Amino acid sequence: MKLKGKVAIITGAGSGIGRATALEFAREGASVVVADRNVQTGQETVEKMNKLNKTAIFVEVDVTSYESVEALVSQAVDRFGKLDIMHNNAGINMAPHSVKDTPIEDYHQTVNVNQHGVFYGIQAASNAMKENGGVIINTASIYAYIADRNRFAYHASKGAVVSMTRAAALDLARHNIRVTGIAPGLIETDIVQEWKKDPEIWAKIEKAQMRRKAGKPEDVAKLVTFLASDDASFMNAHIHYIDDGAAAFKR
Ligand SMILES: NC(=O)c1ccc[n+]([C@@H]2O[C@H](COP(=O)([O-])OP(=O)(O)OC[C@H]3O[C@@H](n4cnc5c(N)ncnc54)[C@H](O)[C@@H]3O)[C@@H](O)[C@H]2O)c1
Repeated sequence: MKLKGKVAIITGAGSGIGRATALEFAREGASVVVADRNVQTGQETVEKMNKLNKTAIFVEVDVTSYESVEALVSQAVDRFGKLDIMHNNAGINMAPHSVKDTPIEDYHQTVNVNQHGVFYGIQAASNAMKENGGVIINTASIYAYIADRNRFAYHASKGAVVSMTRAAALDLARHNIRVTGIAPGLIETDIVQEWKKDPEIWAKIEKAQMRRKAGKPEDVAKLVTFLASDDASFMNAHIHYIDDGAAAFKR
C-alpha cells in the first residue's frame, strides 16, 4: 500500500478525477477527506469508499473562499491528527469564448476557482504541513501549455497553476513539502459533458487525440497516487502531462 497511514484532502472529489483519486488513495491505505462544494456528490464518493471499508469523511468546501479552505484543512487535522497530502483539484470550465468576447464575470469566476482556489489550498495546507512535511499536487491542464480557440479564461487560470506550483515548491522546500502537479488532456468526466451531448462533436474531439480516445479519471488517479507516494520522493516543482501525447503533436 503506497499511502499507508497518510492523511489526504482532495478538492473536487465529488466527481471525475477527484472521485477516482479519492478511491485510489483509499485503496492505497490513505485516510481521505473528500471535499467538494456539491454535498450530494461528495457524500456519494464517501459512500463508495465506505463500501470498500475505507476511512473517509466529507467536508463541504468552496475553494473560492480562503476561510472555507482553511476550515477544510482544520477539520482534516482535527479528525485525523495531521495532513500529509493535499490535492488541489476542484475546477470549472465555462462556456467557450474568445479573448475578445469573454464575459468579465466568467473570467473572474474561472480564475477564482481554478487559480485562487489552488493558491488557497497551497497556503492552508502548507501551514498544516510545515512541521512534518508533505506533498501538494495541483491539477493544471494541457491548456496551460497549448492554445485552443475560445478557452481564454481557462487558459489563463491553468497557466497560473503551473507557475504557482514552481514558486510554491521553491518557497516550501525548506519545510520538506513537495509541490507538484498534473496536466491532463481529454478525460471523460462531467466537465466535458457539454461536448459529449453532441455525438458528432465528441467523435471529432476524440479523433483529435493521438490514439483517438479520451482518458478515464482512473488513469489520472494512478498518476496522482504515484506523485503523492514516497516512490516520487525526488519529484518536485514540475507538472506532469497525462494526455496520451495530446500536447506533443500538431493536429
Ligand atoms: N476532464 C478533463 O478533460 C480535464 C482536462 C484537464 C484538466 N482537468 C481538470 O481536472 C480537474 C477535475 O475536473 P474533472 O474533469 O474531474 O471535472 P468534474 O466536473 O467531474 O469535477 C470537478 C469537481 O470540482 C467541484 N468544484 C467546482 N467548483 C468548486 C468550488 N468552488 N469549490 C469546491 N469544489 C468545486 C465540482 O463540484 C466537481 O465535483 C479540474 O481542475 C479540471 O480543470 C480536467
